[in-house]
Amino acid sequence: MLHKKKLFQSIGISFTAIVLLIASSLVPFLGQPLSAAAEVDHVTLTWESDPKTTQTITWRTEETELSGQVRYAQSEFTKSFPYNAQTLDATVERVATNLGNMNIHSVTLMGLKPGKRYVYQIREGSGWGEIRNFSTPSAKNDGFKFLVFGDSQSINYDVWRTTLQQAFKANQDVSFFTNVGDLVDVGQDYAQWDAWFKASQGVIDRIPAMPLTGNHENYTPERRFSQPVLFTAQLKVPVNGPESLRRQVYSFDYGDVHFVMLDSQIGEQVQFVPQILESQKNWLEQDLAATNKKWKIVFLHRPPYHNKVGGANSSVKRAFVPILDKYHVDVVFSGHEHDYARTYPIYNDQVVGSPGKGTIYVTTGRSGTKTYNDTAASEWNSFFYNPLDEPNYLVVEIKNQILHVKAYKQSGALIDAWSIDKNMEFK
Ligand SMILES: [Fe+2]
Repeated sequence: MLHKKKLFQSIGISFTAIVLLIASSLVPFLGQPLSAAAEVDHVTLTWESDPKTTQTITWRTEETELSGQVRYAQSEFTKSFPYNAQTLDATVERVATNLGNMNIHSVTLMGLKPGKRYVYQIREGSGWGEIRNFSTPSAKNDGFKFLVFGDSQSINYDVWRTTLQQAFKANQDVSFFTNVGDLVDVGQDYAQWDAWFKASQGVIDRIPAMPLTGNHENYTPERRFSQPVLFTAQLKVPVNGPESLRRQVYSFDYGDVHFVMLDSQIGEQVQFVPQILESQKNWLEQDLAATNKKWKIVFLHRPPYHNKVGGANSSVKRAFVPILDKYHVDVVFSGHEHDYARTYPIYNDQVVGSPGKGTIYVTTGRSGTKTYNDTAASEWNSFFYNPLDEPNYLVVEIKNQILHVKAYKQSGALIDAWSIDKNMEFK
């Protein structure tokens, strides 16, 4: 018996040795150490600057990886890539998390040409990682689509994975996606971000993510409030917001649209940013006054027009709605309630006859596992649906004078379709 056990042990050792031998013999063919694949993860595209001519690329490594590089080229030169590639060094930021320290690497490619496809690679150890690609917007301003996801906070991020991957598979021509806040359930628990970013790969490394924070980005594992530091460390959105709310409040232009992302986490953040509403109001007033874009779309996590029982967000509504009215914001997208609903056009807190006279407020549903039963249609809704059966997402298309919104279930069934036509509504 003992003899047999020793034999199996000996076979086991020999087998392990053979596997290691085969693995090490593959290294020269792969061109990089086998361990390199684990060194770079969470590859993420955002825009820190102008989408037409820049692309920000961010990734994560262990804290021992002190430097990072990206090389890139227009895809028409792919055949000769990497010989004509440009190489840039990343800025590296040490980030402390509940799972230990890590380094966040980020590069913004500048001077890109509109309407072009680019390929890029990230240095992984002594080699280079997967060849990925992205596209810059067309210079013609001939319309575009983007995806909107309601709260993805989950007990199982495979559900978020399915929602995102299905939405992208069905809409491969989208230019970017956004999440309306509560990307994760516990914002200072790195295990949740790890699951969220892993589930997002294949999309977030091909089209930019331009998300905003929700209340859950401000929670620690001990259920205390904090600033959303893991969100702002990893998601390199523009830094053009109020100084105390950098990367939480920002705006950017894409095509004929001016996008604004606000922060509605008043109770969670007032101890860190006492002027959270006043500073945003002043900034929003200036930001909207300065744009000459045809369309204005605003995102904020907590909806000014709520549906959930006891869910009124009075201070958010009082602060922002008069400014949204003054500059005639076309649509406001929110989350937090995990229901999908849209209001009639509203101006001065009254339902008005057409989108040319008011703003449509949309709550965007849920893209993760969390549902609520205590939500129902409000008097200001023209459509309401509680996605208890499966998660959902929105496809928004803007083409010249028309904005189309379609809400789909995760599996692709249509929930709602509506549009604003400036030819009709604004005469
Ligand atoms: Fe929320």
